[in-house]
Amino acid sequence: MVRIVRATQVELESAVQALRDGELIAFPTETVYGLGANAQNPAAVRKIFELKGRPASHPVIVHLDSPRFLHRWVREVPEPANRLAEAFWPGPLTMVMPRAAHVHDVITGGQDTIAIRVPAHPMAQQILTAFGGGLAAPSANRYGRISPTRAEHVREEFGDALRVILDGGECQIGLESTIVAFAGDQVRLLRPGSVTAAQLREVVGELAIGAEADSPRVPGGTPTHYAPSTPLTIVPAGEVDAQADAASSGGRRVAVLAQRLPLRSHKYVTWINAGRRPEAYARDLYNNLRTLDRAGCQRILVQSVPDGEAWDAVRDRLVRAATNIADSDDGTGTMAVLP
Ligand code: TXA
Ligand code: MG
Repeated sequence: MVRIVRATQVELESAVQALRDGELIAFPTETVYGLGANAQNPAAVRKIFELKGRPASHPVIVHLDSPRFLHRWVREVPEPANRLAEAFWPGPLTMVMPRAAHVHDVITGGQDTIAIRVPAHPMAQQILTAFGGGLAAPSANRYGRISPTRAEHVREEFGDALRVILDGGECQIGLESTIVAFAGDQVRLLRPGSVTAAQLREVVGELAIGAEADSPRVPGGTPTHYAPSTPLTIVPAGEVDAQADAASSGGRRVAVLAQRLPLRSHKYVTWINAGRRPEAYARDLYNNLRTLDRAGCQRILVQSVPDGEAWDAVRDRLVRAATNIADSDDGTGTMAVLP
Protein backbone atom coordinates (compact mmCIF):
# COMPACT_ATOMS: atom_id res chain seq x y z
CA MET A 1 0.00 0.00 0.00
CA VAL A 2 1.30 3.44 -0.88
CA ARG A 3 1.22 5.88 2.02
CA ILE A 4 0.19 9.40 1.20
CA VAL A 5 2.72 11.47 3.09
CA ARG A 6 1.89 14.96 1.94
CA ALA A 7 -0.08 17.32 4.15
CA THR A 8 -3.27 18.92 2.87
CA GLN A 9 -3.52 22.69 2.48
CA VAL A 10 -5.78 22.86 5.52
CA GLU A 11 -3.31 20.89 7.67
CA LEU A 12 -0.44 23.09 6.53
CA GLU A 13 -2.33 26.29 7.23
CA SER A 14 -3.28 25.24 10.74
CA ALA A 15 0.30 24.12 11.46
CA VAL A 16 1.72 27.42 10.21
CA GLN A 17 -0.87 29.35 12.22
CA ALA A 18 -0.01 27.41 15.39
CA LEU A 19 3.69 28.17 14.88
CA ARG A 20 2.97 31.87 14.31
CA ASP A 21 0.88 31.87 17.52
CA GLY A 22 3.92 30.60 19.41
CA GLU A 23 2.45 27.10 19.80
CA LEU A 24 4.16 23.75 19.32
CA ILE A 25 3.40 21.29 16.53
CA ALA A 26 4.53 17.71 15.90
CA PHE A 27 5.77 16.84 12.43
CA PRO A 28 7.33 13.80 10.78
CA THR A 29 10.92 13.56 9.60
CA GLU A 30 12.56 10.54 8.00
CA THR A 31 14.34 9.81 11.32
CA VAL A 32 11.78 10.38 14.10
CA TYR A 33 8.89 12.79 14.75
CA GLY A 34 9.89 16.25 15.91
CA LEU A 35 8.26 18.61 18.42
CA GLY A 36 8.61 21.93 16.60
CA ALA A 37 8.54 25.58 17.58
CA ASN A 38 9.37 28.79 15.73
CA ALA A 39 13.14 28.94 16.32
CA GLN A 40 13.02 32.74 16.37
CA ASN A 41 10.53 32.85 19.24
CA PRO A 42 12.32 32.06 22.54
CA ALA A 43 9.02 31.81 24.47
CA ALA A 44 7.78 29.18 22.01
CA VAL A 45 11.06 27.24 22.21
CA ARG A 46 10.81 27.29 26.02
CA LYS A 47 7.48 25.48 25.72
CA ILE A 48 9.34 22.55 24.14
CA PHE A 49 11.44 22.19 27.28
CA GLU A 50 8.38 22.46 29.53
CA LEU A 51 6.36 19.88 27.60
CA LYS A 52 9.22 17.40 27.30
CA GLY A 53 10.46 17.95 30.85
CA ARG A 54 13.89 18.50 29.34
CA PRO A 55 16.69 20.33 31.21
CA ALA A 56 17.28 23.82 29.79
CA SER A 57 20.97 23.08 29.28
CA HIS A 58 20.19 20.59 26.46
CA PRO A 59 20.40 22.41 23.12
CA VAL A 60 17.90 21.73 20.32
CA ILE A 61 18.37 21.22 16.57
CA VAL A 62 17.14 23.92 14.18
CA HIS A 63 15.53 22.46 11.04
CA LEU A 64 15.65 24.29 7.71
CA ASP A 65 14.12 23.40 4.36
CA SER A 66 17.30 24.21 2.49
CA PRO A 67 20.99 24.94 3.13
CA ARG A 68 20.54 28.29 1.43
CA PHE A 69 19.31 29.73 4.75
CA LEU A 70 22.31 28.45 6.70
CA HIS A 71 23.98 31.87 6.96
CA ARG A 72 21.02 33.18 8.96
CA TRP A 73 21.88 30.79 11.78
CA VAL A 74 25.55 29.98 11.35
CA ARG A 75 28.35 32.54 11.74
CA GLU A 76 30.83 30.68 9.64
CA VAL A 77 30.23 27.40 7.82
CA PRO A 78 33.27 25.12 8.33
CA GLU A 79 34.72 24.00 5.00
CA PRO A 80 33.97 20.26 5.47
CA ALA A 81 30.37 21.17 6.38
CA ASN A 82 29.79 22.44 2.85
CA ARG A 83 30.84 19.10 1.42
CA LEU A 84 28.74 17.17 3.93
CA ALA A 85 25.71 19.33 3.14
CA GLU A 86 26.24 18.67 -0.54
CA ALA A 87 26.45 14.91 0.07
CA PHE A 88 23.77 14.32 2.73
CA TRP A 89 21.23 17.19 2.76
CA PRO A 90 18.35 16.96 2.70
CA GLY A 91 18.73 13.91 4.92
CA PRO A 92 19.46 12.37 8.33
CA LEU A 93 22.57 14.42 9.18
CA THR A 94 22.82 17.18 11.81
CA MET A 95 25.83 19.53 11.89
CA VAL A 96 26.97 21.51 14.94
CA MET A 97 28.51 24.80 13.77
CA PRO A 98 29.43 28.25 15.17
CA ARG A 99 26.20 30.11 15.89
CA ALA A 100 25.21 33.47 14.43
CA ALA A 101 25.11 36.38 16.89
CA HIS A 102 21.32 36.69 17.10
CA VAL A 103 20.63 33.01 17.89
CA HIS A 104 18.96 32.76 21.29
CA ASP A 105 20.55 30.90 24.22
CA VAL A 106 17.40 28.83 24.71
CA ILE A 107 18.26 27.04 21.43
CA THR A 108 21.97 26.57 22.01
CA GLY A 109 21.89 25.91 25.74
CA GLY A 110 24.18 28.95 26.03
CA GLN A 111 26.88 27.35 23.88
CA ASP A 112 28.62 29.14 21.02
CA THR A 113 27.41 26.50 18.55
CA ILE A 114 24.11 25.63 16.89
CA ALA A 115 22.94 22.28 15.50
CA ILE A 116 21.33 22.43 12.03
CA ARG A 117 19.52 19.79 10.03
CA VAL A 118 17.75 19.83 6.64
CA PRO A 119 15.29 16.90 6.78
CA ALA A 120 14.22 15.05 3.63
CA HIS A 121 10.73 13.90 4.62
CA PRO A 122 8.29 15.49 2.16
CA MET A 123 5.95 16.65 4.91
CA ALA A 124 8.82 18.17 6.91
CA GLN A 125 9.88 19.99 3.75
CA GLN A 126 6.30 21.17 3.21
CA ILE A 127 5.86 22.65 6.68
CA LEU A 128 9.32 24.26 6.70
CA THR A 129 8.69 25.89 3.34
CA ALA A 130 5.14 26.97 4.22
CA PHE A 131 6.31 28.42 7.54
CA GLY A 132 9.25 30.11 5.88
CA GLY A 133 11.63 29.93 8.84
CA GLY A 134 13.62 27.60 11.08
CA LEU A 135 11.92 25.11 13.37
CA ALA A 136 13.59 24.23 16.66
CA ALA A 137 12.70 20.57 17.17
CA PRO A 138 13.86 17.77 19.41
CA SER A 139 12.28 14.34 19.15
CA ALA A 140 8.60 14.48 20.18
CA ASN A 141 8.87 12.39 23.35
CA ARG A 142 9.17 13.10 27.05
CA TYR A 143 12.75 13.56 28.20
CA GLY A 144 14.69 10.28 28.36
CA ARG A 145 11.94 8.20 26.77
CA ILE A 146 11.64 6.41 23.44
CA SER A 147 11.52 8.65 20.37
CA PRO A 148 8.30 8.49 18.30
CA THR A 149 8.37 6.97 14.83
CA ARG A 150 4.62 7.19 14.16
CA ALA A 151 2.05 9.94 14.71
CA GLU A 152 0.17 7.70 17.15
CA HIS A 153 3.28 7.54 19.36
CA VAL A 154 3.16 11.34 19.61
CA ARG A 155 -0.55 11.23 20.42
CA GLU A 156 0.08 8.68 23.17
CA GLU A 157 2.82 10.86 24.60
CA PHE A 158 1.35 14.36 24.31
CA GLY A 159 -2.28 13.91 23.20
CA ASP A 160 -4.24 17.08 23.80
CA ALA A 161 -1.20 19.23 24.58
CA LEU A 162 -0.64 19.74 20.84
CA ARG A 163 -2.99 21.60 18.53
CA VAL A 164 -1.48 20.02 15.40
CA ILE A 165 0.15 16.62 14.88
CA LEU A 166 1.04 16.16 11.21
CA ASP A 167 0.79 12.48 10.29
CA GLY A 168 3.41 11.49 7.74
CA GLY A 169 3.21 7.76 8.33
CA GLU A 170 5.95 5.58 9.71
CA CYS A 171 9.45 7.10 9.77
CA GLN A 172 11.59 5.30 7.20
CA ILE A 173 14.87 5.46 9.14
CA GLY A 174 13.51 5.23 12.67
CA LEU A 175 16.59 6.40 14.62
CA GLU A 176 17.68 9.98 15.29
CA SER A 177 20.02 11.72 12.85
CA THR A 178 23.78 11.32 12.76
CA ILE A 179 25.37 14.35 14.51
CA VAL A 180 28.79 15.79 13.63
CA ALA A 181 30.73 18.75 15.03
CA PHE A 182 33.81 20.62 13.74
CA ALA A 183 37.05 21.89 15.28
CA GLY A 184 39.20 23.57 12.67
CA ASP A 185 39.48 21.03 9.87
CA GLN A 186 38.61 18.15 12.17
CA VAL A 187 35.20 16.50 11.89
CA ARG A 188 33.87 14.63 14.92
CA LEU A 189 31.01 12.13 15.06
CA LEU A 190 28.93 12.89 18.17
CA ARG A 191 25.95 10.60 17.61
CA PRO A 192 25.89 7.64 15.21
CA GLY A 193 22.91 7.42 12.86
CA SER A 194 21.98 6.07 9.47
CA VAL A 195 24.67 8.19 7.80
CA THR A 196 27.54 5.93 8.87
CA ALA A 197 31.11 6.77 9.86
CA ALA A 198 32.28 5.15 6.60
CA GLN A 199 30.00 7.38 4.53
CA LEU A 200 31.24 10.47 6.39
CA ARG A 201 34.88 9.46 5.84
CA GLU A 202 34.26 9.15 2.11
CA VAL A 203 33.42 12.85 2.07
CA VAL A 204 35.73 14.37 4.71
CA GLY A 205 38.62 11.93 5.01
CA GLU A 206 39.54 11.58 8.66
CA LEU A 207 36.84 11.40 11.30
CA ALA A 208 37.16 11.66 15.08
CA ILE A 209 34.73 9.45 16.97
CA GLY A 210 32.74 10.23 20.11
CA ALA A 211 32.38 13.31 22.27
CA GLU A 212 35.57 14.86 23.65
CA ALA A 213 36.16 14.31 27.35
CA ASP A 214 35.57 18.00 28.12
CA SER A 215 32.56 18.29 25.84
CA PRO A 216 29.74 19.83 27.89
CA ARG A 217 26.82 18.31 25.93
CA VAL A 218 26.98 14.73 24.82
CA PRO A 219 23.88 14.00 22.72
CA GLY A 220 21.66 11.65 24.63
CA GLY A 221 24.35 11.65 27.27
CA THR A 222 22.24 10.86 30.31
CA PRO A 223 22.62 7.44 31.97
CA THR A 224 19.40 6.09 30.50
CA HIS A 225 17.97 7.65 27.39
CA TYR A 226 15.66 6.48 24.62
CA ALA A 227 14.43 4.11 27.31
CA PRO A 228 11.27 2.06 27.89
CA SER A 229 9.83 1.97 31.44
CA THR A 230 10.46 -1.77 31.75
CA PRO A 231 14.08 -2.52 32.77
CA LEU A 232 16.04 -3.49 29.66
CA THR A 233 19.07 -5.78 29.59
CA ILE A 234 21.39 -6.61 26.69
CA VAL A 235 22.07 -10.33 26.42
CA PRO A 236 24.79 -12.11 24.40
CA ALA A 237 23.32 -13.79 21.30
CA GLY A 238 24.05 -17.33 22.51
CA GLU A 239 22.34 -16.84 25.87
CA VAL A 240 18.98 -15.40 24.90
CA ASP A 241 16.90 -18.56 25.32
CA ALA A 242 18.59 -19.53 28.59
CA GLN A 243 18.22 -16.05 30.07
CA ALA A 244 14.59 -15.85 28.94
CA ASP A 245 13.91 -19.10 30.80
CA ALA A 246 15.80 -17.96 33.88
CA ALA A 247 14.07 -14.57 33.97
CA SER A 248 10.61 -16.10 33.52
CA SER A 249 10.99 -18.75 36.20
CA GLY A 250 8.13 -18.70 38.66
CA GLY A 251 5.78 -17.34 36.01
CA ARG A 252 7.24 -13.85 35.68
CA ARG A 253 6.52 -12.40 32.25
CA VAL A 254 9.55 -11.54 30.13
CA ALA A 255 9.87 -9.71 26.81
CA VAL A 256 12.57 -10.54 24.26
CA LEU A 257 13.81 -8.54 21.28
CA ALA A 258 15.86 -11.00 19.24
CA GLN A 259 17.24 -11.37 15.74
CA ARG A 260 15.94 -14.90 15.26
CA LEU A 261 13.12 -17.17 16.34
CA PRO A 262 13.33 -18.82 19.78
CA LEU A 263 15.18 -22.16 19.86
CA ARG A 264 12.32 -23.71 21.83
CA SER A 265 8.95 -22.55 23.03
CA HIS A 266 9.01 -20.47 26.18
CA LYS A 267 6.08 -20.02 28.49
CA TYR A 268 5.55 -16.45 29.78
CA VAL A 269 7.83 -14.97 27.10
CA THR A 270 6.76 -12.36 24.52
CA TRP A 271 9.28 -12.74 21.70
CA ILE A 272 9.86 -10.35 18.78
CA ASN A 273 12.16 -11.46 15.97
CA ALA A 274 13.45 -8.17 14.54
CA GLY A 275 15.63 -9.85 11.93
CA ARG A 276 19.24 -9.45 10.89
CA ARG A 277 19.06 -6.48 8.52
CA PRO A 278 20.32 -3.34 10.24
CA GLU A 279 18.10 -0.90 8.31
CA ALA A 280 14.88 -2.80 9.02
CA TYR A 281 15.94 -3.45 12.62
CA ALA A 282 16.59 0.28 13.11
CA ARG A 283 13.34 1.35 11.46
CA ASP A 284 11.29 -0.92 13.75
CA LEU A 285 13.37 -0.62 16.93
CA TYR A 286 11.43 2.06 18.80
CA ASN A 287 8.05 0.64 17.83
CA ASN A 288 9.19 -2.81 18.97
CA LEU A 289 10.40 -1.41 22.30
CA ARG A 290 7.05 0.32 22.77
CA THR A 291 5.21 -2.92 22.02
CA LEU A 292 7.35 -4.87 24.50
CA ASP A 293 7.04 -2.10 27.08
CA ARG A 294 3.24 -2.50 26.92
CA ALA A 295 3.33 -6.31 27.17
CA GLY A 296 3.11 -6.32 30.97
CA CYS A 297 6.56 -7.84 31.43
CA GLN A 298 8.98 -7.39 34.30
CA ARG A 299 12.02 -7.27 32.07
CA ILE A 300 12.99 -6.75 28.45
CA LEU A 301 15.94 -8.82 27.20
CA VAL A 302 17.57 -7.62 23.98
CA GLN A 303 19.83 -9.86 21.96
CA SER A 304 23.20 -8.14 21.56
CA VAL A 305 23.56 -6.88 17.96
CA PRO A 306 26.52 -7.80 15.71
CA ASP A 307 29.82 -5.92 15.67
CA GLY A 308 30.51 -3.60 12.78
CA GLU A 309 29.66 -0.07 11.69
CA ALA A 310 26.32 -0.96 10.11
CA TRP A 311 25.01 -1.61 13.64
CA ASP A 312 26.65 1.39 15.38
CA ALA A 313 23.51 3.52 15.62
CA VAL A 314 21.34 0.64 16.85
CA ARG A 315 24.02 -0.46 19.35
CA ASP A 316 24.35 3.11 20.67
CA ARG A 317 20.59 3.43 21.30
CA LEU A 318 20.34 -0.01 22.91
CA VAL A 319 23.21 0.72 25.28
CA ARG A 320 21.56 3.99 26.28
CA ALA A 321 18.22 2.25 26.80
CA ALA A 322 19.76 -0.50 28.93
CA THR A 323 19.43 -0.21 32.68
CA ASN A 324 22.26 -2.65 33.19
CA ILE A 325 24.37 -4.96 31.11
CA ALA A 326 23.67 -8.68 31.25
CA ASP A 327 25.64 -10.78 33.66
CA SER A 328 27.58 -13.18 31.56
CA ASP A 329 30.23 -15.70 32.41
CA ASP A 330 32.57 -14.67 29.65
CA GLY A 331 32.06 -10.94 30.03
CA THR A 332 30.69 -10.50 26.51
CA GLY A 333 27.70 -8.70 27.96
CA THR A 334 29.77 -5.53 28.10
CA MET A 335 29.45 -3.43 24.97
CA ALA A 336 31.17 -0.26 23.92
CA VAL A 337 28.92 2.61 22.92
CA LEU A 338 31.16 3.25 19.95
CA PRO A 339 33.82 1.09 18.30
O1 TXA B 1 16.76 12.96 13.96
C1 TXA B 1 16.86 13.89 14.76
O2 TXA B 1 17.92 14.48 14.98
C2 TXA B 1 15.56 14.32 15.48
C3 TXA B 1 14.62 14.93 14.45
C4 TXA B 1 13.37 15.50 15.09
O3 TXA B 1 15.30 15.91 13.71
N1 TXA B 1 15.87 15.27 16.53
C5 TXA B 1 16.50 14.91 17.67
O4 TXA B 1 16.60 15.94 18.58
O5 TXA B 1 16.92 13.81 17.88
P1 TXA B 1 17.02 15.74 20.10
O6 TXA B 1 16.86 17.06 20.74
O7 TXA B 1 16.24 14.62 20.69
O8 TXA B 1 18.52 15.40 20.00
C6 TXA B 1 19.39 16.40 19.53
C7 TXA B 1 20.74 16.25 20.15
C8 TXA B 1 20.71 16.51 21.63
O9 TXA B 1 21.15 15.38 22.34
C9 TXA B 1 21.64 17.68 21.83
O10 TXA B 1 22.48 17.48 22.94
C10 TXA B 1 22.45 17.73 20.54
O11 TXA B 1 21.59 17.24 19.56
N2 TXA B 1 22.78 19.11 20.22
C11 TXA B 1 21.96 20.10 19.84
N3 TXA B 1 22.64 21.27 19.72
C12 TXA B 1 23.93 20.98 20.01
C13 TXA B 1 25.12 21.76 20.09
N4 TXA B 1 25.11 23.05 19.83
N5 TXA B 1 26.25 21.11 20.43
C14 TXA B 1 26.27 19.80 20.72
N6 TXA B 1 25.17 19.02 20.67
C15 TXA B 1 24.02 19.60 20.33
MG1 MG C 1 15.51 13.04 21.72
